[in-house]
Amino acid sequence: MTAATETRVVRTRDEVRHAVRDARMAGGTVALVPTMGYLHAGHLSLVDRARELADFVAMSIFVNPLQFAPTEDLARYPRDFDRDLEMARGRGVDLVFAPGVEEMYPGGEPQVSVVPAGTLTERMEGAIRPGHFRGVLTVVAKLFGIFTPDVAVFGQKDFQQAALIRRMALDLDLGVRVEVAPIVREPDGLAMSSRNVYLSPDERERALALSRGLEHGRALFAAGERDADALRAALREALDVPGVEAEYAEAANPLTLEPVAAAEPGTVLLVAARVGRTRLIDNAVLS
Ligand code: PAF
Repeated sequence: MTAATETRVVRTRDEVRHAVRDARMAGGTVALVPTMGYLHAGHLSLVDRARELADFVAMSIFVNPLQFAPTEDLARYPRDFDRDLEMARGRGVDLVFAPGVEEMYPGGEPQVSVVPAGTLTERMEGAIRPGHFRGVLTVVAKLFGIFTPDVAVFGQKDFQQAALIRRMALDLDLGVRVEVAPIVREPDGLAMSSRNVYLSPDERERALALSRGLEHGRALFAAGERDADALRAALREALDVPGVEAEYAEAANPLTLEPVAAAEPGTVLLVAARVGRTRLIDNAVLS
C-alpha cells in the first residue's frame, strides 16, 4: 500500500464496505480522508498523515449539498475529478470513494441528521453559516458509518469544523480517532483552500490580510501580549484594508471555542473575511 499501489475508485457504499472488509481481513487498519475534491497540497498532507497512522488509506470526494446554504457557492464549487484522481494516485491513496448525491442521500433530504448545539457552534462559522455544520456533521457521520475507519484526518484550517467532528465522535461514541493536521500555506502565507481558485490576482494579494493578521497576532503574543482584546484588535486592524470585508476576528479557547479574556499557549486566533465574492477563513494556535 505504497505510492506504487493502484488506487481503486468506487462509487457505491457497498463497494466501500467490501473494500474496507478486505483491508481489515488482510490485517490492516483503515484511515479516511474526507474531502470535497479540487485537491491541493493541504489535502495531500492529510493523506500523508493518514498513511502514518493506518495501513489502508481511503479518500472520499463528495461536494456535499447539505452543507451549502442556497445563497452559497455549491453550483460553482470547483470540481476536477480527473486531476483529483491523479493527485490521489500520486500520493498512494488506496481507495477513492466518489459517490453521486443520490448514492449519499438515497432517501433524499435526510429526516434525521446530526445537529450541533452548544458553544462549539454558537459563534463564528456556526453563526454566519446557519445549518452548515448540520450538513458537515451529517455527511461525516455517514462517512464514518460507511467506512468505519480507525482514524479520520481533517485539516486545521477548518478549526471549528474539526473541533465539532472531534466532539461528535466523542459524544456519539463513533469509535473513530479524529486527527487534525496542520494548515498548509502557500509560500507567501495564504492558507491553501480549494476556494483560492476564485481569487483574481488582485484579490489574491488582498487575501494575505488574513495570514498577515494572524502572524502579527502571534508576534504580539510572543512579545508578551496577553490581553485577548488587544489581539482581536490587531487581527481586525490587519483585515481593515480596501477590498477585504472582515467577518470575525476572535481569540478563543481551543476546546470550547468561547472567547477568552487572556490569551495563553493553546489559545486559537480565528479570522474570516470576504475578499470580493470569496469567503476565506484562517487560524493560528498560539504557542
Ligand atoms: O472540509 C471539507 O472538505 C468538508 O467540510 C468535509 C469534511 C469533507 C465534509 O463534506
